Amino acid sequence: MRSPQVEPAAALPTSVTIYEVGPRDGLQNESAVVPVEVKAEFITRLVTAGLSTVELTSFVHPRWVPQLADAAELLDRLAATDLTGLRRAPVLVPNERGLERALDKGVTEVAIFGSATESFARRNLNRGYDEQFAMFAPVVARAREAGLAVRAYVSMCYGDPWEGDVPVDQVVEAARRLLDLGCTELSLGDTIGVGTPGHVERLVESLTATGVDVDVLAVHFHDTYGQALSNTLTALRLGITTVDSSAGGLGGCPYAESATGNLATEDLVWQLHGLGIETGVDLEALVSTSVWMAEQIGKPPASRVVAALA
Ligand code: HMG
Ligand code: MG
Repeated sequence: MRSPQVEPAAALPTSVTIYEVGPRDGLQNESAVVPVEVKAEFITRLVTAGLSTVELTSFVHPRWVPQLADAAELLDRLAATDLTGLRRAPVLVPNERGLERALDKGVTEVAIFGSATESFARRNLNRGYDEQFAMFAPVVARAREAGLAVRAYVSMCYGDPWEGDVPVDQVVEAARRLLDLGCTELSLGDTIGVGTPGHVERLVESLTATGVDVDVLAVHFHDTYGQALSNTLTALRLGITTVDSSAGGLGGCPYAESATGNLATEDLVWQLHGLGIETGVDLEALVSTSVWMAEQIGKPPASRVVAALA
């Protein structure tokens, strides 16, 4: 059986945008150095499989994430590639230097990445909690002036490996401060994959209660504790229609202990297609892309659906 029987369920959206993070969140965490031409082929294959939003890479400090030090070269290669079907192609930028490097390559969307906790802000950005917003403010202002869309991530929404529980109000405060800078989308990061459905409900409802429009929200679940799909279904029932995932379940964060891969795109697609929700993704083409990528990095894909179909 290569596809699920379609049985729609109540109170769900009719279409979902899959925000593919494999080339960025996935490859930033691989110990193997992936050659730039392999990255370009990976992205091309993802787009061919029907993924129309793909986060390409990061313009962070190359010493901090050497795996993505080839960001500029990758964008040069992609500019010379036929990527018909790619609608959104965001890149991560932490600061003005990163934004300048991204603008040089003609990007149309960037993503900043903030933390709900002091500990992770220090470890991931070398900045305190308050300082991170001061670093992001000119980035968002300049990017918006240049006509770019700006996604903001907020990390450690459901727990932090150094601080433990993270109060929902603290996450709401960080999220509001990022949105107030002028960001156009906010992705709620479960960086270490510890969240559960009631927690998702509390957070999303707390955000919308402060006036945040559910349409600007996205969810970003790492699957460390196997909760990502049930958390996603909870988010969909609350009206969220943008879901982050990575092909084959690649991923993690080099600055967060115990972060494993993201929700696998194939697992997400199987569930959405079974629910009769449109994604535009050709699951077979995606599975063969993940199998091919796994050969490149010498590691089997984490996705259950890939294991079942490959
Ligand atoms: P810093 O060391 O404090 O940098 O790092 P600085 O501002 O002091 O600058 C020092 C030098 O670095 C300067 O050069 C800058 O020009 C240069 P010098 O004057 O000494 O010659 N520099 C840069 N060079 C290239 N590109 C840049 C850049 N910025 C400064 N962008 C910094 C601060 C933010 C740069 C550093 O901490 C960093 O790069 N951090 C990135 C960490 C990272 O990428 N983590 C993974 C992504 S986050 C994630 O995965 C979570 C997410 O998936 C959501 C979730 O799961 O929750 C998004
Ligand atoms: Mg992540």
